Amino acid sequence: MAIAAQGTEQDTVDAAVDPDDARAITSDGADFCDLMSDLVGGFERRTGIRTALVVSRSWPAAAPPGITVNLYRIAREALQNAARHSRAKHVSVKLGSLASGKLSMTVTDYGCGFDRSATTVGMGTIEMTERAVLMGGDLWIDTFPGFGTSVHVRVPR
Ligand SMILES: Nc1ncnc2c1ncn2[C@@H]1O[C@H](COP(=O)(O)OP(=O)(O)O)[C@@H](O)[C@H]1O
Ligand SMILES: [Mg+2]
Repeated sequence: MAIAAQGTEQDTVDAAVDPDDARAITSDGADFCDLMSDLVGGFERRTGIRTALVVSRSWPAAAPPGITVNLYRIAREALQNAARHSRAKHVSVKLGSLASGKLSMTVTDYGCGFDRSATTVGMGTIEMTERAVLMGGDLWIDTFPGFGTSVHVRVPR
């Protein structure tokens, strides 16, 4: 797993399920980036998919717990989708904040992508979207057959 710090972002995690998730998400006082690092590291070990966690310098030292729990769950589903559906060899998870002050997370797989108009939305997508809306934010998916998939989330602090 690669963990890197990055400058300010413009605008913009079966085998994939983490058995340690219940422990991880209830760890009192655990830093969100550490939890994400555990999620990504565990995902990489179980699936063999090279996975980078990139945390922008603009990511706040302490993000509100209500946001971080939801972001963690969204990342977990996006990673699970990458493992189940994308045949990707590389995945990235990027955390940052936008010029608007909102927090952003993007999970990108460099896999097969899919045709949204020909694909039935599943519970995973519905739940990810509902979590984003619950936080007062939004979630959208960029994908195209052959060009991989990015799940973007944007939430107010
Ligand atoms: N990262 C991805 N790569 C390729 N196809 C994907 C990806 N994510 C989602 N899909 C497609 O979208 C469908 C819906 O995903 P989702 O709502 O998570 O439901 P599920 O994963 O239970 O099928 C998947 O069945 C798959 O066809
Ligand atoms: Mg899914």
